[in-house]
Amino acid sequence: MHRTPRPWRRRLDMAFATHCLVRCLSSSAARHAAIKHITVIGGGLMGAGIAQVAATTGHTVVLVDTSEDILKKSTQGIEGSLKRVAKKKFADKPEAAAEFLQKVLKNISTNTDASSAVRSTDLVVEAIVENLKVKQSLFSSLDKAAPEHTIFASNTSSLPITDIASATTRLDRFGGLHFFNPVPMMKLVEVVRTSQTSQMAFDALTDFTKALGKHPVSCMDTPGFLVNRLLVPYMMEAIRLHERGHGSKEDIDMAMKLGAGYPMGPFELLDYVGLDTSKFIIDGWHAMEPENPLFAPSPMLNKLVAEGKLGKKTGEGFYKHKSFKEMPRQCR
Ligand SMILES: NC(=O)c1ccc[n+]([C@@H]2O[C@H](COP(=O)([O-])OP(=O)(O)OC[C@H]3O[C@@H](n4cnc5c(N)ncnc54)[C@H](O)[C@@H]3O)[C@@H](O)[C@H]2O)c1
Repeated sequence: MHRTPRPWRRRLDMAFATHCLVRCLSSSAARHAAIKHITVIGGGLMGAGIAQVAATTGHTVVLVDTSEDILKKSTQGIEGSLKRVAKKKFADKPEAAAEFLQKVLKNISTNTDASSAVRSTDLVVEAIVENLKVKQSLFSSLDKAAPEHTIFASNTSSLPITDIASATTRLDRFGGLHFFNPVPMMKLVEVVRTSQTSQMAFDALTDFTKALGKHPVSCMDTPGFLVNRLLVPYMMEAIRLHERGHGSKEDIDMAMKLGAGYPMGPFELLDYVGLDTSKFIIDGWHAMEPENPLFAPSPMLNKLVAEGKLGKKTGEGFYKHKSFKEMPRQCR
Protein backbone atom coordinates (compact mmCIF):
# COMPACT_ATOMS: atom_id res chain seq x y z
CA MET A 1 0.00 0.00 0.00
CA HIS A 2 1.29 3.46 -0.86
CA ARG A 3 2.01 5.64 2.17
CA THR A 4 2.80 9.38 2.05
CA PRO A 5 6.38 9.96 3.31
CA ARG A 6 6.41 11.13 6.97
CA PRO A 7 7.55 14.80 6.45
CA TRP A 8 4.87 15.25 3.79
CA ARG A 9 2.27 13.66 6.07
CA ARG A 10 3.19 16.14 8.81
CA ARG A 11 2.99 19.03 6.34
CA LEU A 12 -0.39 17.81 5.05
CA ASP A 13 -1.69 17.49 8.64
CA MET A 14 -0.57 21.03 9.37
CA ALA A 15 -2.11 22.35 6.15
CA PHE A 16 -5.38 20.60 7.01
CA ALA A 17 -5.36 22.03 10.55
CA THR A 18 -4.66 25.54 9.19
CA HIS A 19 -7.46 25.15 6.62
CA CYS A 20 -9.90 24.13 9.41
CA LEU A 21 -8.84 27.05 11.60
CA VAL A 22 -9.22 29.58 8.76
CA ARG A 23 -12.66 28.18 7.86
CA CYS A 24 -13.71 28.25 11.48
CA LEU A 25 -12.49 31.84 11.99
CA SER A 26 -13.93 33.11 8.72
CA SER A 27 -17.34 31.51 9.29
CA SER A 28 -17.61 32.95 12.82
CA ALA A 29 -16.51 36.35 11.48
CA ALA A 30 -19.16 36.08 8.74
CA ARG A 31 -21.92 35.37 11.27
CA HIS A 32 -24.07 38.37 11.93
CA ALA A 33 -24.64 39.77 15.40
CA ALA A 34 -28.19 39.25 16.69
CA ILE A 35 -30.56 42.17 16.22
CA LYS A 36 -31.50 43.53 19.65
CA HIS A 37 -32.32 47.18 19.20
CA ILE A 38 -34.75 48.23 16.48
CA THR A 39 -36.29 51.45 15.21
CA VAL A 40 -39.74 51.32 13.68
CA ILE A 41 -40.58 54.34 11.53
CA GLY A 42 -44.32 54.95 11.20
CA GLY A 43 -46.63 54.30 14.13
CA GLY A 44 -49.74 53.49 12.06
CA LEU A 45 -51.51 50.18 11.67
CA MET A 46 -48.44 48.16 10.68
CA GLY A 47 -45.70 50.03 12.55
CA ALA A 48 -47.56 49.80 15.87
CA GLY A 49 -48.05 46.06 15.36
CA ILE A 50 -44.38 45.50 14.50
CA ALA A 51 -43.27 47.54 17.54
CA GLN A 52 -45.61 45.55 19.79
CA VAL A 53 -44.36 42.16 18.61
CA ALA A 54 -40.69 43.20 18.78
CA ALA A 55 -41.09 44.58 22.33
CA THR A 56 -42.98 41.46 23.45
CA THR A 57 -40.10 39.27 22.26
CA GLY A 58 -37.52 41.22 24.28
CA HIS A 59 -36.21 43.73 21.72
CA THR A 60 -35.82 47.36 22.62
CA VAL A 61 -37.86 49.46 20.23
CA VAL A 62 -37.97 53.13 19.32
CA LEU A 63 -41.20 54.01 17.56
CA VAL A 64 -40.99 57.08 15.32
CA ASP A 65 -43.75 59.16 13.77
CA THR A 66 -44.25 62.74 12.70
CA SER A 67 -46.01 64.07 15.83
CA GLU A 68 -46.34 63.40 19.55
CA ASP A 69 -50.09 63.17 19.06
CA ILE A 70 -49.83 60.29 16.59
CA LEU A 71 -47.29 58.54 18.81
CA LYS A 72 -49.60 58.88 21.80
CA LYS A 73 -52.48 57.27 19.88
CA SER A 74 -50.13 54.61 18.62
CA THR A 75 -48.80 53.65 22.07
CA GLN A 76 -52.33 53.70 23.51
CA GLY A 77 -53.31 51.25 20.77
CA ILE A 78 -50.35 49.00 21.62
CA GLU A 79 -51.22 49.13 25.33
CA GLY A 80 -54.84 48.18 24.61
CA SER A 81 -53.76 45.29 22.44
CA LEU A 82 -51.23 44.09 25.05
CA LYS A 83 -53.90 44.23 27.75
CA ARG A 84 -56.06 41.88 25.69
CA VAL A 85 -53.07 39.55 25.20
CA ALA A 86 -52.25 39.65 28.94
CA LYS A 87 -55.89 38.95 29.89
CA LYS A 88 -55.87 35.82 27.73
CA LYS A 89 -52.38 34.70 28.70
CA PHE A 90 -52.73 35.23 32.45
CA ALA A 91 -56.47 34.68 32.88
CA ASP A 92 -56.43 34.04 36.67
CA LYS A 93 -53.22 35.90 37.52
CA PRO A 94 -53.80 39.67 37.38
CA GLU A 95 -50.41 40.37 38.99
CA ALA A 96 -48.56 38.36 36.31
CA ALA A 97 -50.61 40.16 33.65
CA ALA A 98 -49.65 43.58 35.07
CA GLU A 99 -45.98 42.54 35.27
CA PHE A 100 -46.06 41.32 31.64
CA LEU A 101 -47.61 44.59 30.48
CA GLN A 102 -45.08 46.71 32.37
CA LYS A 103 -42.13 44.66 31.11
CA VAL A 104 -43.17 44.91 27.45
CA LEU A 105 -44.06 48.62 27.59
CA LYS A 106 -40.66 49.33 29.17
CA ASN A 107 -39.07 48.10 25.94
CA ILE A 108 -40.82 50.79 23.86
CA SER A 109 -39.83 54.44 23.63
CA THR A 110 -40.96 57.05 21.12
CA ASN A 111 -39.31 59.81 19.10
CA THR A 112 -40.39 62.34 16.48
CA ASP A 113 -36.83 62.73 15.15
CA ALA A 114 -35.99 59.72 12.98
CA SER A 115 -32.33 60.65 12.51
CA SER A 116 -31.59 60.81 16.22
CA ALA A 117 -33.59 57.62 16.85
CA VAL A 118 -31.40 55.50 14.56
CA ARG A 119 -28.01 56.54 16.00
CA SER A 120 -27.57 53.29 17.93
CA THR A 121 -29.95 50.90 16.25
CA ASP A 122 -29.29 47.47 14.73
CA LEU A 123 -32.28 47.51 12.40
CA VAL A 124 -34.66 50.08 10.93
CA VAL A 125 -38.09 48.83 9.89
CA GLU A 126 -39.91 51.44 7.84
CA ALA A 127 -43.74 51.37 7.77
CA ILE A 128 -44.68 54.84 6.58
CA VAL A 129 -46.96 55.98 3.76
CA GLU A 130 -46.77 53.90 0.53
CA ASN A 131 -45.02 56.54 -1.58
CA LEU A 132 -41.65 55.92 -3.23
CA LYS A 133 -40.37 59.52 -3.06
CA VAL A 134 -41.28 59.86 0.64
CA LYS A 135 -39.65 56.53 1.51
CA GLN A 136 -36.51 57.39 -0.49
CA SER A 137 -36.19 60.76 1.19
CA LEU A 138 -36.55 59.17 4.64
CA PHE A 139 -33.96 56.45 3.97
CA SER A 140 -31.54 58.91 2.39
CA SER A 141 -31.41 60.93 5.60
CA LEU A 142 -31.32 57.81 7.83
CA ASP A 143 -28.38 56.50 5.81
CA LYS A 144 -26.30 59.46 6.98
CA ALA A 145 -27.33 59.11 10.62
CA ALA A 146 -27.32 55.35 11.25
CA PRO A 147 -24.18 53.37 12.18
CA GLU A 148 -22.37 51.29 9.58
CA HIS A 149 -23.75 47.95 10.82
CA THR A 150 -27.42 49.01 10.80
CA ILE A 151 -29.64 47.07 8.41
CA PHE A 152 -32.52 48.87 6.70
CA ALA A 153 -35.81 47.18 5.83
CA SER A 154 -39.04 48.40 4.27
CA ASN A 155 -42.49 46.95 4.93
CA THR A 156 -43.76 48.14 1.54
CA SER A 157 -46.53 46.05 -0.03
CA SER A 158 -46.10 47.11 -3.62
CA LEU A 159 -42.98 49.20 -4.24
CA PRO A 160 -39.70 47.64 -5.45
CA ILE A 161 -37.23 47.36 -2.55
CA THR A 162 -34.42 48.03 -5.06
CA ASP A 163 -35.91 51.45 -5.88
CA ILE A 164 -36.28 52.41 -2.21
CA ALA A 165 -32.74 51.20 -1.41
CA SER A 166 -31.28 53.21 -4.30
CA ALA A 167 -31.55 56.35 -2.13
CA THR A 168 -28.91 54.93 0.24
CA THR A 169 -25.29 53.84 0.14
CA ARG A 170 -25.98 50.54 1.95
CA LEU A 171 -27.46 48.43 -0.84
CA ASP A 172 -25.92 45.29 0.70
CA ARG A 173 -27.62 45.97 4.04
CA PHE A 174 -31.09 46.67 2.65
CA GLY A 175 -34.01 44.26 2.32
CA GLY A 176 -37.72 43.93 2.71
CA LEU A 177 -39.63 42.73 5.77
CA HIS A 178 -43.23 42.40 4.65
CA PHE A 179 -45.47 41.80 7.66
CA PHE A 180 -49.18 41.04 7.43
CA ASN A 181 -52.14 42.72 9.08
CA PRO A 182 -52.85 42.36 12.00
CA VAL A 183 -49.16 41.92 12.82
CA PRO A 184 -49.56 40.37 16.30
CA MET A 185 -51.82 37.63 14.84
CA MET A 186 -50.34 36.90 11.42
CA LYS A 187 -47.47 34.40 11.45
CA LEU A 188 -45.96 35.12 8.04
CA VAL A 189 -43.20 37.56 7.17
CA GLU A 190 -41.88 37.79 3.61
CA VAL A 191 -38.15 38.44 3.78
CA VAL A 192 -37.23 40.15 0.52
CA ARG A 193 -33.74 40.18 -0.94
CA THR A 194 -32.66 42.35 -3.83
CA SER A 195 -29.81 41.40 -6.16
CA GLN A 196 -27.56 43.47 -3.88
CA THR A 197 -28.69 42.27 -0.42
CA SER A 198 -25.77 40.47 1.23
CA GLN A 199 -26.18 36.95 2.57
CA MET A 200 -25.28 38.29 6.03
CA ALA A 201 -28.04 40.92 5.96
CA PHE A 202 -30.55 38.42 4.60
CA ASP A 203 -29.67 35.91 7.35
CA ALA A 204 -29.92 38.63 10.00
CA LEU A 205 -33.40 39.63 8.76
CA THR A 206 -34.52 36.01 8.62
CA ASP A 207 -33.23 35.29 12.14
CA PHE A 208 -34.90 38.47 13.40
CA THR A 209 -38.31 37.35 12.11
CA LYS A 210 -37.79 33.98 13.80
CA ALA A 211 -36.91 35.76 17.05
CA LEU A 212 -40.29 37.54 16.74
CA GLY A 213 -41.95 34.11 16.66
CA LYS A 214 -42.90 34.56 13.01
CA HIS A 215 -42.44 32.27 10.03
CA PRO A 216 -40.17 33.80 7.38
CA VAL A 217 -40.35 32.98 3.67
CA SER A 218 -37.66 34.07 1.25
CA CYS A 219 -38.77 36.27 -1.67
CA MET A 220 -37.22 37.93 -4.66
CA ASP A 221 -37.83 41.63 -5.22
CA THR A 222 -40.67 41.18 -7.72
CA PRO A 223 -44.14 42.86 -7.71
CA GLY A 224 -46.24 41.62 -4.80
CA PHE A 225 -43.51 39.24 -3.60
CA LEU A 226 -45.37 35.93 -3.08
CA VAL A 227 -48.66 36.50 -1.26
CA ASN A 228 -49.90 39.66 -2.97
CA ARG A 229 -48.67 38.50 -6.37
CA LEU A 230 -51.21 35.67 -6.07
CA LEU A 231 -53.86 37.46 -4.03
CA VAL A 232 -54.27 40.78 -5.88
CA PRO A 233 -54.81 39.25 -9.39
CA TYR A 234 -57.25 36.78 -7.76
CA MET A 235 -59.29 39.62 -6.22
CA MET A 236 -59.17 41.58 -9.50
CA GLU A 237 -60.38 38.53 -11.43
CA ALA A 238 -63.30 38.20 -8.99
CA ILE A 239 -64.29 41.81 -9.78
CA ARG A 240 -63.97 41.11 -13.53
CA LEU A 241 -66.17 38.00 -13.20
CA HIS A 242 -68.78 40.14 -11.48
CA GLU A 243 -68.39 42.95 -14.06
CA ARG A 244 -69.02 40.43 -16.87
CA GLY A 245 -72.14 39.24 -15.07
CA HIS A 246 -70.85 35.75 -14.29
CA GLY A 247 -72.01 35.89 -10.70
CA SER A 248 -73.17 38.17 -7.90
CA LYS A 249 -70.54 39.27 -5.36
CA GLU A 250 -72.42 37.33 -2.67
CA ASP A 251 -72.32 34.13 -4.75
CA ILE A 252 -68.65 34.57 -5.68
CA ASP A 253 -67.76 35.10 -2.00
CA MET A 254 -69.82 32.08 -0.92
CA ALA A 255 -68.33 29.96 -3.71
CA MET A 256 -64.78 30.64 -2.55
CA LYS A 257 -65.64 30.10 1.14
CA LEU A 258 -67.59 26.88 0.72
CA GLY A 259 -65.91 25.56 -2.42
CA ALA A 260 -62.29 26.49 -1.83
CA GLY A 261 -62.33 26.65 1.97
CA TYR A 262 -61.15 30.29 2.04
CA PRO A 263 -62.04 32.07 5.31
CA MET A 264 -63.28 35.15 3.40
CA GLY A 265 -64.57 35.68 -0.11
CA PRO A 266 -62.67 38.02 -2.49
CA PHE A 267 -65.16 40.91 -2.09
CA GLU A 268 -65.10 40.64 1.71
CA LEU A 269 -61.32 40.65 1.52
CA LEU A 270 -61.27 43.67 -0.81
CA ASP A 271 -63.46 45.62 1.65
CA TYR A 272 -61.18 44.60 4.52
CA VAL A 273 -57.94 45.53 2.72
CA GLY A 274 -59.41 48.83 1.44
CA LEU A 275 -60.45 49.48 -2.16
CA ASP A 276 -58.10 52.46 -2.44
CA THR A 277 -55.16 50.28 -1.38
CA SER A 278 -56.10 47.58 -3.90
CA LYS A 279 -56.50 50.18 -6.68
CA PHE A 280 -53.18 51.78 -5.77
CA ILE A 281 -51.40 48.41 -6.02
CA ILE A 282 -52.98 47.32 -9.32
CA ASP A 283 -52.45 50.76 -10.91
CA GLY A 284 -48.75 50.62 -9.95
CA TRP A 285 -48.30 47.14 -11.40
CA HIS A 286 -50.27 48.07 -14.53
CA ALA A 287 -47.92 51.01 -15.09
CA MET A 288 -44.93 48.64 -14.76
CA GLU A 289 -46.41 45.92 -17.02
CA PRO A 290 -49.22 47.45 -19.17
CA GLU A 291 -49.48 44.30 -21.35
CA ASN A 292 -50.10 41.94 -18.42
CA PRO A 293 -53.87 41.13 -18.36
CA LEU A 294 -53.63 40.08 -14.69
CA PHE A 295 -52.70 43.68 -13.81
CA ALA A 296 -55.47 45.36 -15.87
CA PRO A 297 -57.46 48.04 -13.99
CA SER A 298 -61.18 47.57 -13.27
CA PRO A 299 -63.84 50.23 -14.08
CA MET A 300 -66.00 48.99 -11.18
CA LEU A 301 -63.18 49.31 -8.65
CA ASN A 302 -62.22 52.75 -10.00
CA LYS A 303 -65.85 53.96 -9.73
CA LEU A 304 -66.22 52.82 -6.10
CA VAL A 305 -62.93 54.51 -5.14
CA ALA A 306 -63.95 57.74 -6.92
CA GLU A 307 -67.19 57.69 -4.89
CA GLY A 308 -65.20 57.37 -1.68
CA LYS A 309 -66.51 53.84 -1.06
CA LEU A 310 -63.26 52.39 0.21
CA GLY A 311 -64.53 49.37 2.17
CA LYS A 312 -64.79 48.71 5.87
CA LYS A 313 -62.92 51.88 6.85
CA THR A 314 -65.51 54.18 5.23
CA GLY A 315 -68.55 52.03 6.07
CA GLU A 316 -69.13 51.02 2.45
CA GLY A 317 -67.23 49.31 -0.36
CA PHE A 318 -68.61 46.33 -2.22
CA TYR A 319 -70.78 45.82 0.89
CA LYS A 320 -72.30 48.18 3.46
CA HIS A 321 -70.69 47.87 6.90
CA LYS A 322 -72.83 49.13 9.75
CA SER A 323 -70.17 48.41 12.31
CA PHE A 324 -66.83 46.69 12.74
CA LYS A 325 -68.61 43.81 14.55
CA GLU A 326 -70.33 42.83 11.31
CA MET A 327 -67.06 41.80 9.68
CA PRO A 328 -66.30 38.08 9.66
CA ARG A 329 -64.68 36.90 12.91
CA GLN A 330 -61.31 36.10 11.39
CA CYS A 331 -60.82 39.76 10.37
CA ARG A 332 -60.72 41.03 13.92
N1 LIG B 1 -52.19 48.07 5.97
C1 LIG B 1 -51.81 46.86 5.58
O1 LIG B 1 -52.60 45.89 5.59
C2 LIG B 1 -50.37 46.63 5.17
C3 LIG B 1 -49.87 45.32 5.13
C4 LIG B 1 -48.53 45.11 4.79
C5 LIG B 1 -47.71 46.20 4.48
N2 LIG B 1 -48.23 47.47 4.51
C6 LIG B 1 -47.32 48.59 4.20
O2 LIG B 1 -46.89 49.16 5.44
C7 LIG B 1 -46.69 50.56 5.28
C8 LIG B 1 -47.54 51.32 6.29
O3 LIG B 1 -48.87 50.98 6.13
P1 LIG B 1 -49.96 51.27 7.27
O4 LIG B 1 -51.20 50.58 6.85
O5 LIG B 1 -49.39 51.01 8.62
O6 LIG B 1 -50.15 52.86 7.09
P2 LIG B 1 -50.75 53.90 8.14
O7 LIG B 1 -51.29 55.01 7.33
O8 LIG B 1 -51.64 53.23 9.13
O9 LIG B 1 -49.45 54.41 8.95
C9 LIG B 1 -48.42 55.14 8.37
C10 LIG B 1 -47.80 56.01 9.46
O10 LIG B 1 -46.59 56.57 8.97
C11 LIG B 1 -46.51 57.90 9.45
N3 LIG B 1 -45.59 58.61 8.57
C12 LIG B 1 -45.80 59.06 7.31
N4 LIG B 1 -44.68 59.66 6.84
C13 LIG B 1 -43.75 59.58 7.82
C14 LIG B 1 -42.39 59.99 7.94
N5 LIG B 1 -41.76 60.61 6.94
N6 LIG B 1 -41.74 59.74 9.10
C15 LIG B 1 -42.34 59.11 10.11
N7 LIG B 1 -43.64 58.68 10.06
C16 LIG B 1 -44.31 58.91 8.92
C17 LIG B 1 -47.94 58.41 9.42
O11 LIG B 1 -48.08 59.52 10.28
C18 LIG B 1 -48.70 57.17 9.89
O12 LIG B 1 -48.85 57.15 11.30
C19 LIG B 1 -47.01 50.87 3.81
O13 LIG B 1 -45.83 50.85 3.06
C20 LIG B 1 -47.92 49.72 3.40
O14 LIG B 1 -47.86 49.44 2.02
C21 LIG B 1 -49.54 47.72 4.86
